[in-house]
Amino acid sequence: MTLLSISKILKIKNIKKYKNKIITINGWIKTLRNSKIGISFIDINDGSSINNIQIIVKKDLNNYNKIKKLTSGCAIKIMGIIIKNKKTNNYEINVNYIKILGKINNPKKYPLSPKYHSLEYLRKISHLRSKTKLFGAISRIRNTFIFNLHKYLQSKNFLLINTPIITSLDTEGHSKMFNIKYKNNNFFNKKSYLSVSGQLNLESYACSLSKVYNIGPIFRAENSNTKKHLSEFWMLETEIAFYKLNKIISLSKNILSYCIKQTLKHNKQDIYFLLNFNKSNNINHITNIIEKKFIEIDYYKIINILKKQKIFKNDNIRWGISISTIYEKFLTEKYFKNALIIKNYPKKIKPFYMKTNKDNKTVSCIDILLPNIGEIIGGSVRENDINKLDKNIKKNKLNKKQYNWYRDLRKYGNTPHSGFGLGIERIIMYITKMQNIRDVIPFPKYPNYSNF
Ligand code: 4AD
Ligand code: MG
Repeated sequence: MTLLSISKILKIKNIKKYKNKIITINGWIKTLRNSKIGISFIDINDGSSINNIQIIVKKDLNNYNKIKKLTSGCAIKIMGIIIKNKKTNNYEINVNYIKILGKINNPKKYPLSPKYHSLEYLRKISHLRSKTKLFGAISRIRNTFIFNLHKYLQSKNFLLINTPIITSLDTEGHSKMFNIKYKNNNFFNKKSYLSVSGQLNLESYACSLSKVYNIGPIFRAENSNTKKHLSEFWMLETEIAFYKLNKIISLSKNILSYCIKQTLKHNKQDIYFLLNFNKSNNINHITNIIEKKFIEIDYYKIINILKKQKIFKNDNIRWGISISTIYEKFLTEKYFKNALIIKNYPKKIKPFYMKTNKDNKTVSCIDILLPNIGEIIGGSVRENDINKLDKNIKKNKLNKKQYNWYRDLRKYGNTPHSGFGLGIERIIMYITKMQNIRDVIPFPKYPNYSNF
């Protein structure tokens, strides 16, 4: 008896191979319809595909009376024969055995009754929401995207380096870190935190192994209750020795293009389902990235554009300001209507580790902004001149001693190197057009919410 996933069954090309062959499927009931003539039609799903498979149960089945009373959500194991419905051309299963594995205790109280549920409501039942078509689709897309990040980077000989979650360093220099304590004791005998980025650790490995990356959890105590910030999120970070900014730009474009293309290929139905749910009727935003349609532009040019806009005339736009969400939206959705790579930001608004340009005012860095999302990638060449690095540490009021190991990298075989970070949830939002970042991570954490 062969155990098959629904996705495998739906992909069968030659049904003759399965003629009279009993197969097994495990799954959950989506809908159940009993006909008057003693046949039940049950749609089941096992998470392997957005599509269900219909099973046909006849009254001569020994436990038919129990089966026909089952409800949406019950877990069952079935055995039967795959047939092709001549009218619909769909595969169905003629069932000759069903085992009830898990019932819905009280269907009236089942939090996922078949009616419509709001995303806010589903967020409160994050432990059950993956049972919905919507969250099944998001999970499969996330899986494919992350799998292909690994695939692409491994094919380019990058090494996966698992960076620490516990650290004593403030990588981004913005102090938005969660403290770690154990029973009020300073367990590590040093102030320790959950990491806001594995970058500095990756730099140490890049300076001996050349091309490294990690995909890991990131923790930020930003009190930003927005639709695109999480307190815990996942980031791809790359770090490459001997790379300059142009190489980082092409690597980011290639990674995005490849992984989105693969996701579209493997999860087309999931993507179309979500786009439809989000009232979008085309995949132009996806094909634009696959075709690498990015506009590269310097920060100072962006400021000149913003200065000229009447809508921002009271904003006192000047060189040195941050590109806040409202400007990001204007630039990507109205002015350029395109993905942007903004380069060479002012030194004073970027972290201490970025390499200062010859002008001594800007740093060699990029932010990649996408329409409807804003920033998805932040990257830079790293400052490898120890004197300049020390000055930055001082200017940012960071504790130099704490950064000694990081400074060592500039003393022992100093290597030019660069890297970037890609926010996984933000890119999944972009692909799916989901509006709230809390809906593209399995168990979202945000200010005042750490359930599950
Ligand atoms: O721009 P960020 O802060 O860059 C870094 O942390 C670098 N150390 C990365 C590196 O060069 N190795 O963050 C990178 C990306 C952002 O562009 C954004 O997509 C995402 O991480 N991000 C968040 N995603 C969800 N919730 C938050 N609170 C996020 N903060 C940043
Ligand atoms: Mg950034």
